[in-house]
Amino acid sequence: MWGGRFAAGPAAIMEEINASIDVDKRLWREDIAGSKAHAAMLAATGVISKDDLAAITKGLDAISGEIEEGKFAFSKKFEDIHMNIEARLKALVGEPAARLHTARSRNDQVATDFRLWVRRACDEASAALRLLQEALLEKAEAHAATIMPGYTHLQTAQPVTFGHHCLAYVEMFARDRARFEDARARMNECPLGAAALAGTPYPIDRAMTAKALSFDGPTGNSLDSVSARDFALEALSAATIAASHLSRLSEEIVFWTSPHFAFAKLSDAFSTGSSIMPQKRNPDAAELCRAKIGRIAGSFTSLLFVMKGLPLAYSKDMQEDKAATFQAFDDLALAVAAMEGMVRDLTMNPEKMRAAAMAGYSTATDLADWLVRVLGMPFRDAHHVTGAIVALAEAKSIRLDELSLEEMQKVDARITKDVFSVLTVEASVASRKSYGGTAPDNVKQQIALWRDRLSKENKA
Ligand code: ARG
Repeated sequence: MWGGRFAAGPAAIMEEINASIDVDKRLWREDIAGSKAHAAMLAATGVISKDDLAAITKGLDAISGEIEEGKFAFSKKFEDIHMNIEARLKALVGEPAARLHTARSRNDQVATDFRLWVRRACDEASAALRLLQEALLEKAEAHAATIMPGYTHLQTAQPVTFGHHCLAYVEMFARDRARFEDARARMNECPLGAAALAGTPYPIDRAMTAKALSFDGPTGNSLDSVSARDFALEALSAATIAASHLSRLSEEIVFWTSPHFAFAKLSDAFSTGSSIMPQKRNPDAAELCRAKIGRIAGSFTSLLFVMKGLPLAYSKDMQEDKAATFQAFDDLALAVAAMEGMVRDLTMNPEKMRAAAMAGYSTATDLADWLVRVLGMPFRDAHHVTGAIVALAEAKSIRLDELSLEEMQKVDARITKDVFSVLTVEASVASRKSYGGTAPDNVKQQIALWRDRLSKENKA
């Protein structure tokens, strides 16, 4: 492509380190769309003729067909997707192909292609996370009143509803989606026409190409246009945070399905066996979802380090952006889909969950609150009295509600039998009606709210 000045071809190792076609061939759709938009603009502004445009468009469509049918011969000799396509276009349509690269450079070309790719990846990630939200909403609905232990420090804290627990993840994934949507909005400017770095003397219409590629408008600075990759970093950071949420839910699935907890079961479809221990049902998909953050965060730091310290404008370092980004979004898509499958597949065991919630003195706070509300005790004193009652029950290895009234009155004589009304896990969760609390009624309201939000998204 730059043969004019070069007498000899590249060393084999040069070709090896330089060629990116194995990775960036995934940009072929974006590259063809970008070239078509560019050619149409060049014709509209009189830079190339209508005949050239017709030949270029026809050739690009033919190349599209060849790639789709697996008939296109990608070659390292042509380094990357841009030159592979251009070389093929030349072979197909001759001279007009050589005019396509007027008023553009591979620098603005790749920046455009990659933005288009990352923009779509953000849209797809958000759509996939929405499906996961829907799966969680279904689980929440089925288990609005299912009681389980709520934990802090993974120590039994207070009873909560499983529906409420599911909705916590619906919230997290909503913020993840919002991050992808924010990133998309910020990246939605078109670098095409920035040319190599300084703009171009041709009378191009950058607004036209931007519009043709569904960008909000053209980027404002040609140097920044070809050298910015923070749009990908932002998308990768959103992906990393989403992966951290997937990782947390995965970890919970791992211990819920452990026989020690037995809160949930994954069917055969989402379990694997052991080649030596016939009793095993391993939650491999959950473990792999838990692990994906390693690769995804790795991609984020990889690109961050590539970009650090690069002078303006384009440097070849930036070619390393794609492998990391493609891999992260592939991993994220796989993990989100697997998580959605697992959430749908999970069969909960409400008896076990309730029994676990009853153990561990999870209603001790309710007892303290009763002392405050009914006896008018300051909370700190109530905390102390409750602590003594818990110690008593613990010494006898029984639950709080199994203590007799007399035993409780030994700790504080003012306690009446009314106290037993707050010691059940059902009473505990039902009482937590403060906005955002775990009460089954709240859960049902929140589910309705989320369903409404998601359905409004469809209309928007
Ligand atoms: N394959 C290159 C990349 O991905 C395309 C841009 C090459 N530009 C250049 N001046 N060598 O970054």
